[in-house]
Amino acid sequence: MRRVCPRRLCIYIMTSEEPTSLLPSHIAIIMDGNGRWAQAQGKKRVQGHKVGMERARDIVAHCGKLGVQTLTLFAFSSENWSRPEEEVGFLMNLFVTGLTRESKTLHKNNVQLRVIGDVSRFDKKLQAAISKAEDLTRNNKGIVLQIAANYGGKWDIIQAVNKLISKIPNKSLAEPVTEQMLESELVGSDLPHVDLMIRTGGEKRISNFLLWQCAYSELYFSEKLWPEFNETALDAALSEYSNRQRRFGQTSEQVMAEQTK
Ligand code: FPP
Repeated sequence: MRRVCPRRLCIYIMTSEEPTSLLPSHIAIIMDGNGRWAQAQGKKRVQGHKVGMERARDIVAHCGKLGVQTLTLFAFSSENWSRPEEEVGFLMNLFVTGLTRESKTLHKNNVQLRVIGDVSRFDKKLQAAISKAEDLTRNNKGIVLQIAANYGGKWDIIQAVNKLISKIPNKSLAEPVTEQMLESELVGSDLPHVDLMIRTGGEKRISNFLLWQCAYSELYFSEKLWPEFNETALDAALSEYSNRQRRFGQTSEQVMAEQTK
């Protein structure tokens, strides 16, 4: 049985009268460590991305089964263009083949796919594959899968500011810009904020990912390299998350009092 906590859209998985674990509504993942994993196997870095794609597929399926509402995967940051040309080219091809190959399965599994980021810099073939997959899955009501590609948190905030400005008549502000106004122009503004951000590969950074949407996320850093991050590893992250107390600026006592209401 699932119950939605009204304040923050977190979902309790109920196995008895008391909530036994808290499932995040929105999980965001920085899939780091593909290159190192491949090198450790004596393979080329790009082979790590290929296996990373398989892991991404497993994790999407697992999150869908668990009832997670939104999963955002960081596939390519606005800073990743500075990687060697061969690696960038490989990743672009991987995205096209991945989208083409997986979109039917995603659709069959009721997944709604969205690509977030400045896709205008991608070549026409990739842009077409993105539009086709998004169109096919647009009305699906299962998990929302956001693939962040040529995405940066700063880019998102800047594009939101520019959209807001473009909507202001005569470009003169009658009233101050509010948090809500800005937020409504960010990508995925109809989705819950990130509850749990996971980064694999041992690094402890946010790397310009979902800066606004992660303002109050719980952070989970795994030493596992992304190709090793399987369903069991995700379950361990979820288990740790369910034991954290999310305070949103309140005191521990206030949170406990609210929970017993
Ligand atoms: C970071 O590892 C990973 C990337 C920049 C690419 C991530 C892409 C995939 C996992 C493919 C899946 C794609 C989709 C569309 C879901 P790294 O190369 O920085 O690893 P390193 O730290 O070991 O060098």
